[in-house]
Amino acid sequence: MSDTHITVHTGARIDRIEPELHGHFSEHLGRCIYDGMWHDETADGEGFREDVVDLLADLEMPVLRWPGGCFADDYHWEDGVGDDRPRRRNLFWAQGREELPEEPNTFGTHEFLELCERIGAEPYLALNVGSGDPQEAADWVEYCTYGGDTELADRRRDNGREEPFDVPYWGIGNENWGCGGQMSPEQYAREYRRFATYVGTMDNLMADQEFDLIACGFENHEWNRRFMEEVSESAWGAAFPLDHLTLHHYYGRTMSVVETDDEDKYDQLLVEALEMDEHIERIAAAINATATTRDIGVIIDEWGTWHTEAVSETGLEQPGTVIDGLSAAAVLDIFNHHADVMTMGNIAQTVNVLQCLVETEGDDAWARPTYHVFDLYSPHQGNDAVQTSVDAPVRDAERTDADLPLVGASASVADDETYVTLTNLDVLGAREVEIDTEGDDPSAVDAQILFDGQEPDAVVDADNAASFEPESFDVGVENDGTLTAELPPSTVLGVSLR
Ligand code: AHR
Repeated sequence: MSDTHITVHTGARIDRIEPELHGHFSEHLGRCIYDGMWHDETADGEGFREDVVDLLADLEMPVLRWPGGCFADDYHWEDGVGDDRPRRRNLFWAQGREELPEEPNTFGTHEFLELCERIGAEPYLALNVGSGDPQEAADWVEYCTYGGDTELADRRRDNGREEPFDVPYWGIGNENWGCGGQMSPEQYAREYRRFATYVGTMDNLMADQEFDLIACGFENHEWNRRFMEEVSESAWGAAFPLDHLTLHHYYGRTMSVVETDDEDKYDQLLVEALEMDEHIERIAAAINATATTRDIGVIIDEWGTWHTEAVSETGLEQPGTVIDGLSAAAVLDIFNHHADVMTMGNIAQTVNVLQCLVETEGDDAWARPTYHVFDLYSPHQGNDAVQTSVDAPVRDAERTDADLPLVGASASVADDETYVTLTNLDVLGAREVEIDTEGDDPSAVDAQILFDGQEPDAVVDADNAASFEPESFDVGVENDGTLTAELPPSTVLGVSLR
């Protein structure tokens, strides 16, 4: 007898799922760049870690944000180009890097943009607003994207890159309400306008390509409303170059999720992850108060778990667990539900740091549970999200005053396929699920499951990594086309119907 009913309203289109909703974020922090992506000892001759590059290239990675994070507002791009690269402080993230507490600038603009080309991701560069100026920002855009005969374009050529790089996204700062300058919303709005005037004019006149400008928002939505109000006040009353507004949402900060038999901790973590839904609605409302989400998209620029193990001394490293993977699946479902307002989402951080997808140790590199979740969700990219109703039991999460719905789901359609993802967020029991696709009678159903038989606090390492890979799964098909599945505890399922 099923206890969970999912209805996929295949005719009720939400919007296209932009591939960028499955984006990533990397920073000069701990072992993300050095040792993670760039490692001279196992280099392929140019410094990239081939094993990590291969893992990232195998994933459909639409976009990669760099160089921070807080690092971005203390980074001066000219330090990281050419032969003569100064060694600098790493103001925010020197801690936790015993072997390399300073920034050598070995990995700079060319290295990052080439990495993006190797892994097939669009680059997204975050400009320095906190300690930089609009001149430096516009120069970086010119250096990267201009094909003419200026000194900066020639310098790029001298440094080995003849053709302009393609950089479709430029962020105006990072967390400028905090590490990016402690600004009030009005102050940041004025800085945004100043930077966007110079950088945005490059877009119209000098760059050989079009690009989007991205402003930093906050989890405090009153801050976002005030920013939008002020930034809309252009001196000439003209539409202002602002394509996306962002916020960062981390969760699980008060807990470790390994070696615990306290199920309520898992419920609390998942409830905090599901708060993403309200944040997206509220930032979209802040945009819509003065503009429209058709013109200014919502980006969740940094997101994921941040546990008590991730402190300065560990370089923000924490174990990669099944429960973290489940939380990622729940968030990616939420992104699909908001495909009409969302333009990008970047999980933090790509390698070794926070809820990374790839982990390294010495010469080993392996995929974490969250990597497999992204892989399982990749068929949604570019599809049309459709309304999905979930009627599932809920549990009172004792540490919060919220209920946890025990199953999450989302669905999308393409020409000849409906793709459904569902997650059993219940770490205690299996769920009998029925999926109604409203009269669709599929001739082929393929399903893949993640984490069947794994404990929620199972930690991945170099030796057991293969045990977290997807397995094929039997889904029942009734005469009327209804699908049935018994979803084991703490599992994620991807079902393709053709
Ligand atoms: O991802 C780690 C840090 O979290 C980033 O540098 C900052 O933007 C956020 O506070």
